[in-house]
Amino acid sequence: MLERIQKIMAEIQALQAHNAEEAEALRIKYLSKKGEITALMNDFRTVPAELKKEVGMRINALKAAAQDKINALKEAAVQEQASAPGIDLTRTPYPIPLGTRHPLTIVKNEIVDIFSRLGFTLAEGPEVEDDWHVYSSMNFADDHPARDMQDTFFVEAHPDIILRSHTSSVQARVMESTQPPIRVICPGRVYRNEAISARAHCFFHQVEGLYVDRNVSFTDLKQVLLLFAQEMFGPDTKIRLRPSYFPFTEPSAEMDVSCTICGGKGCSLCKGAGWLEILGCGMVDPAVLEANGIDSSVYTGYAFGMGIERIANLKYQVRDLRMFSENDVRFLDEFVAAN
Ligand code: DAH
Repeated sequence: MLERIQKIMAEIQALQAHNAEEAEALRIKYLSKKGEITALMNDFRTVPAELKKEVGMRINALKAAAQDKINALKEAAVQEQASAPGIDLTRTPYPIPLGTRHPLTIVKNEIVDIFSRLGFTLAEGPEVEDDWHVYSSMNFADDHPARDMQDTFFVEAHPDIILRSHTSSVQARVMESTQPPIRVICPGRVYRNEAISARAHCFFHQVEGLYVDRNVSFTDLKQVLLLFAQEMFGPDTKIRLRPSYFPFTEPSAEMDVSCTICGGKGCSLCKGAGWLEILGCGMVDPAVLEANGIDSSVYTGYAFGMGIERIANLKYQVRDLRMFSENDVRFLDEFVAAN
């Protein structure tokens, strides 16, 4: 036994390897389950008791020596490979292909950025909401058609819990927890029970704006929206407000911008009208202020809401709404330059 140990020790000391594979082969030869040193250890039980102590110490020393030697060979092989001609460790690495920002994120950031510069702060609310924040507190009558199954996704077990169908719910969230002055911009995803097509989707994105303070007037609203339109679509952009109706604003209006393609002359994008509708807005209905704990005899406010897809379409002429959610990299890669 001692002789076998000595013989293997001599072998180990003389070991050489030209590369990492050879060093690994040596590890297998000596140290793996079926390796020679492992075999020695298995035979240890046949060693007479009086020799066990000495033999044991030697086998352990042999094993340690083999491990050290083979590790050293492996290390040397790696070093050698690294310094071999043709491998330049100082070379700059290949560029890592970075993703691109999603066009809706680009547009959302742009909208939020414009309103931040006007003093609006960011507010967000949950996508799974209750009826109160989405509809009741926003002055929707109990039998308002928007509450219908055809528009609203209900969470089955709770008829009161729904997927929000507009970001106006965030207005309620902010007002119930903050007293004026309030000036917030609220981007987020909304859901409606619509058949998916090029022009409609069951989810899309909106940005809501809300300003409540003393003496807030329709003139303030109009001025802020004009500034927004000119920042978003260019300094020559004109706006026009048409009377409209929303349960949560009175008076209410829809805003058009002069066509982003023809500038107002009439083209296929604006269908000859020269104008494109981009958002809804109005003075916050006093009933909404009161429902959310704000004294409507002291404060007034304005609100507006717009679809991010709509704005993105006007900026980038995306023909099919589905492209925004299909994650086709050929489409997404087109927005690299806009990052
Ligand atoms: N919530 C409306 C919608 O989903 C958009 C909207 C219109 C929001 C007028 C407003 C507003 O804040 O004043 O179509």
